Amino acid sequence: MAYLELKKVTKEFGKLAALEEVSLAVEKGEILGIVGPNGSGKTTLINVISGYYRPTGGAIFFHGKKISGHRPDKISARGIVRTFQSNVLYEGATVVESMLISSYQQYRTGHWQSFFKTRAWKEDHERVVGRAIELIKLFELLNDTFLPAQGLSHGFQRLLGIAMAMTANPSVLLLDEPTTGMNHEEAMFVVDKIKMLNEQGLTVILIEHNMKVLMNVATRVAVLSFGNKIAEGRPEEVMNNQEVIEAYLGTEML
Ligand SMILES: Nc1ncnc2c1ncn2[C@@H]1O[C@H](COP(=O)(O)OP(=O)(O)OP(=O)(O)O)[C@@H](O)[C@H]1O
Ligand SMILES: [Mg+2]
Repeated sequence: MAYLELKKVTKEFGKLAALEEVSLAVEKGEILGIVGPNGSGKTTLINVISGYYRPTGGAIFFHGKKISGHRPDKISARGIVRTFQSNVLYEGATVVESMLISSYQQYRTGHWQSFFKTRAWKEDHERVVGRAIELIKLFELLNDTFLPAQGLSHGFQRLLGIAMAMTANPSVLLLDEPTTGMNHEEAMFVVDKIKMLNEQGLTVILIEHNMKVLMNVATRVAVLSFGNKIAEGRPEEVMNNQEVIEAYLGTEML
């Protein structure tokens, strides 16, 4: 039984099949790269896994249990959390506020316990805030703690997006082009953080446009073209696959 498994997943928008019977098995602890030309279905794949879209065909299983058809909050509570292709930040919030707002769902105690500051709540609060601070340090955002998140450089905004997703303590993280708009050095900084999280046990599905970056981080790569999975394997295998090369002909990527 695979850890996370897509079985013949289809997502149609009217006549367009953004995903067409895509089957994919994700192993625990791997960094699976997803590549493909623009519009090939990469973001849609993340949207169906995370429950933002309901597949129109097929099913998705996590730990052998069906998760497709469930709401995003339910899926993230199960441990599968995603980031977005564009920077999504809370209006006017500082870095630490953004982290705390994202952490809110991690409280196990309720409102009245918070109101009376019960012992259970205090322990809960210490755990939640402690984790947020730990992540701020881990992502090297400590010097920017009290700055408005929207004032951060593009690269650090993207990094904060990952840190915010990590407040949910996911076991699987779905990253939609975390390094877009970054120079090579910034991208490598993000890659290092992803590798570090992976070494701590996080399973990662990474959409990445930049092949150089992907080769550096992915343990395995799946390639999408027009909603179909056309190849899967070790990064260097996939790069030399004729069908993959043809899918990319005329694009800037190879
Ligand atoms: N909500 C939607 N409604 C209609 N069509 C959609 C919707 N979302 C995606 N599509 C279409 O599905 C196809 C796949 O889109 P998707 O965003 O998954 O591609 P992508 O591989 O992430 O592309 P990019 O590299 O540009 O981010 C595209 O043709 C897109 O226009
Ligand atoms: Mg996309």
